[in-house]
Amino acid sequence: MTSLADLPIRDDLRGREPYGAPQLDVPVALNTNENPYPPSERLVKAIGEAAAAAAAGLNRYPDRDATALREDLAAFLNADTPGAGLTARHVWAANGSNEIIQQILQAFGGPGRTALGFEPSYSMHPIITRVTATAWVNAHRDEDFGIDPDAAVAAIERHRPDVVFLTSPNNPTGTALPPKVIEAVLDAAPGMVVVDEAYAEFRREGSPSALTLLPGRPRLIVTRTMSKAFAMAGTRLGYLAADPAVVDALLLVRLPYHLSAVTQAVARTALAHGDELLATVELLRRERDDLVAWLRREGLTAADSDANFVLFGTFPDRRRIWQGLLDRGVLIREVGPPEWLRVSVGTPEEMAAFRTAFKEIL
Ligand SMILES: Cc1ncc(COP(=O)(O)O)c(C=O)c1O
Repeated sequence: MTSLADLPIRDDLRGREPYGAPQLDVPVALNTNENPYPPSERLVKAIGEAAAAAAAGLNRYPDRDATALREDLAAFLNADTPGAGLTARHVWAANGSNEIIQQILQAFGGPGRTALGFEPSYSMHPIITRVTATAWVNAHRDEDFGIDPDAAVAAIERHRPDVVFLTSPNNPTGTALPPKVIEAVLDAAPGMVVVDEAYAEFRREGSPSALTLLPGRPRLIVTRTMSKAFAMAGTRLGYLAADPAVVDALLLVRLPYHLSAVTQAVARTALAHGDELLATVELLRRERDDLVAWLRREGLTAADSDANFVLFGTFPDRRRIWQGLLDRGVLIREVGPPEWLRVSVGTPEEMAAFRTAFKEIL
């Protein structure tokens, strides 16, 4: 049997582990921050029709620039953040925001360059950074999982990174960043600043999106996804908003026809049904706030959350809790600081199952 070590693989990939959140078939999956509500029958039918229409032209390559989809995404963002003033030229789309992040690093990172993030944060930022042969520097969040602007500026001045990642709301902590932190980072950073807003639609009142900071800031990139609030994780559609010059940079690294005609058609149909899909956001926010309150009543520490998941603890042996829940059919995520666990917000029934299983273990 040939093993990986026998192949002439890049030296810097030797000994690496692939991304591997467990994908298990369990009754209650609360581990990957998906929206638990499947598309309605009406939407399933509309998506089927859109996919069939796209299928009739599958002998041809898709629109390489996904222009119609980018127009729809810009319209959605302008409604989300009035005054954003975005057009298709400010928006770029790819197969999940992970691919967006990869393209950003291909264009602005690479050998001899550095990306910096504030951990604990999204584990794919350092992984994609290293896969693009970019060096990774880890700066730290404070005790409350926020970012102190002075400490952030000091880390940036020390490392002079080409790319800075700010995740807001942050995964796995749920923490949203105030605009003043993002502005301080932008002022200090010599390169690009990526605000990963995968969970933006779940943020609490009074927590503005970084989209408000875009005008006049060509080094700012705001990334979004249809995988979370939009309940379209299976579609694989991520996107960004930035200065049109940033989109021009990504055109240099994207593969031609990277976004299939079927993906474009499905994503556009989902956007046309955006009101229906986003109606679940309000339910999930309420369920999240109830979960935080319940965990605290149980005597646990639960981080404030602006996302559709909650980080809670602390457990000297978190593996025992994770395994105990799994034995009862509830899968959550062992991620973040060593004594903490993360649970995604599901339906009321799923959260009741989580609470029952959790009480049994304690
Ligand atoms: C912070 C953050 N960014 C990006 C992603 C990637 O999402 P996708 O590639 O599905 O758009 C995730 C997924 O969990 C995430 O948590």
